[in-house]
Amino acid sequence: MRPDYRFTHKHILGIDHLSCDDIEHILQVAESFKEISSRSIKKVPTLRGKTVVSLFFEPSTRTRLSFEIAAKRLSADTFAITTASSSATKGESLIDTAKNLEAMNPDIIIMRNAISGSPHLLTRHIKTSVINAGDGTHEHPSQGLLDLMTVKEHKQRIKGLKLAIIGDIAHSRVAHSNIIGFSKMGASVTVSGPATLIPRNVERLGATVCLSVREAIRDADVVMPLRIQMERQNDALLPSFKEYAAFFGINRQTLEAARPDALVMHPGPINRGVELTPDVADGSRSVILDQVANGVAIRMALLYLVLGNA
Ligand code: CP
Repeated sequence: MRPDYRFTHKHILGIDHLSCDDIEHILQVAESFKEISSRSIKKVPTLRGKTVVSLFFEPSTRTRLSFEIAAKRLSADTFAITTASSSATKGESLIDTAKNLEAMNPDIIIMRNAISGSPHLLTRHIKTSVINAGDGTHEHPSQGLLDLMTVKEHKQRIKGLKLAIIGDIAHSRVAHSNIIGFSKMGASVTVSGPATLIPRNVERLGATVCLSVREAIRDADVVMPLRIQMERQNDALLPSFKEYAAFFGINRQTLEAARPDALVMHPGPINRGVELTPDVADGSRSVILDQVANGVAIRMALLYLVLGNA
């Protein structure tokens, strides 16, 4: 990291906007916060008096809860709105919703939305800091950062590793954030899956495409199967889940092509028996629940760093 480095971001919209120094710094701050979650009193006064609003227009278990836990562990006040509980159901636009939230003077808005680019749009209409908690098929920066943190914890480095991401690359914001983040930090990223689920030009993000799963996984340090995102598919892109599992699912046999110490990761939610078998999901190489635990630390770091700049 440069000696004169300073974190200067008011918003976190994507890993694309973060430099290697930013990523290193976020991971360091997250590591320093991680210990708070193992205390018997899991609370520090760092963000006392700050107001965090989460605006989730798509379902979420991990991201929404871990942002809320992160904010509460730093003593911020948290408030949550979901699609069902908001006046968006009465026809209020996203921009009007955000302007009305801003009028109540929150310090930060955490937003998930099905429309790619919607958090970027908000930042042009309101002054409040915005963290993107997943926008359509575009980016999921906090997931990419917690994945980097998890790999760094287990492998002590990112540079020179091989990450294989398998599955629905076209509709996955996690895939996009991880391709950008891991490539930026010096790893090589190979993507594989049905040709209908590999986006054109994915190489421009830094990935190598390999349609054979076994070849993609060969000598990988990290294997990351992804869920088929049916909620984002309008056309029939797969014959069936059964066929997908047979050709592209990760099981003990396919995993043999990876390095013996390869990590198995998954952002969740898992469709067991489709993109990976339960024995692999729960096996000794799986760090899936470490990813979830690190999600709290990464989100504590993001809230702390962004609010320090706001
Ligand atoms: N990984 C992830 O974004 O999970 P949720 O959809 O449950 O938040």
